[in-house]
Amino acid sequence: MESIKTELLNARNPDEVAAAVPRAAALLREGKLVAFPTETVYGLGADATNPIAVARIFSAKGRPTFDPLIVHIADRSELPRVLSSSALSDPRVSALADAFWPGPLTIVAPASAAIPELVRAGLPSVGVRLPAHETARALIRAAGCPIAAPSANLFGQLSPTSAAHVAEQLSGRIHAIVVAEPSRVGVESTVVSLLPGEPARLLRPGGVPRELVEHALAPFGPLLEPAAPSPSDAALPAPGMTASHYAPRARVRIIDPASPDLRNLSRVALLAPDDATLARLEQVAAGLTVVARAALSEQLDPVRAASQLFELLHQLDEALRVDGDAHDTILTTPYPEPGLGAAIADRLRRASAER
Ligand code: TXA
Ligand code: MG
Repeated sequence: MESIKTELLNARNPDEVAAAVPRAAALLREGKLVAFPTETVYGLGADATNPIAVARIFSAKGRPTFDPLIVHIADRSELPRVLSSSALSDPRVSALADAFWPGPLTIVAPASAAIPELVRAGLPSVGVRLPAHETARALIRAAGCPIAAPSANLFGQLSPTSAAHVAEQLSGRIHAIVVAEPSRVGVESTVVSLLPGEPARLLRPGGVPRELVEHALAPFGPLLEPAAPSPSDAALPAPGMTASHYAPRARVRIIDPASPDLRNLSRVALLAPDDATLARLEQVAAGLTVVARAALSEQLDPVRAASQLFELLHQLDEALRVDGDAHDTILTTPYPEPGLGAAIADRLRRASAER
């Protein structure tokens, strides 16, 4: 990954905040990455409606897989940009928002169409939070878009509660850091899922104690533990990691174009890392019925590829579904692993291992 000059934007008093916020907001609107303080931990922010910006988050963190990200808003009135209309009319959403926003609580509920698949890791639901930190809210408001933000640390390292922690880990990998005081809460938000027709579940303990969430949801029923991982996880390299991830209905097979295993294939859709590999896949699949094809990017570009991965899997899955049968398969080739490519390769391997 090429080194980026990381701007330090001081925001330790009102005058500094007034200068830092418009600069940071302008960077976010350009699709760049800005670390910013929240009351829980520092977040690594990007425009949640821009899939390329969101892909850069995974690249900067060196995350080997795609986890769903929390989308941050500045005001309750922005909720319709993030959640579906059915979610907005779920009384449990209002109960939690009334009780804990602004603050360290994330609500997972069905997403609006404006939220790209990569933010949701392909799931139909999205996590949304209205933070209490004034500078965070001023920044989101000035950016004019919801902000996707995981904790601003490298993969596998500690969550940052100060701007110095962020700088140690991410200098040279992100465009700016908004420098304010250390985070007050110091642990991430509590995550509660409210899916239609299902009881509420506590997905992650965090800044709001479980007992308080139970109390707020008491009129609507109990607060359950996360759903048990699906049985298909047993077949996967990292059990438990995929229960919450989108799996295409079609089978996924990763082949080596030099010695392709085409057993039991009839109707296929082709997914290639780039245009050149797609042309090779077309040749390999010459004897099969190819119903759709796509390249993750024209030339190998992992950021662009990551931003498209779930959308394209969905589209190919849909194309196969028309009059489909059990042998329908998405055929792909191994994604090259340096940098963000590892996360793409990981997701394709998981998809091919399922069932
Ligand atoms: O306090 C926080 O929540 C911090 C600050 C920056 O706001 N953010 C944070 O983000 O911790 P992150 O990306 O590390 O947390 C994402 C977690 C996922 O691991 C998952 O537990 C949950 O949020 N999550 C988000 N979207 C979800 C979804 N659609 N379905 C299930 N879980 C989801
Ligand atoms: Mg984290």
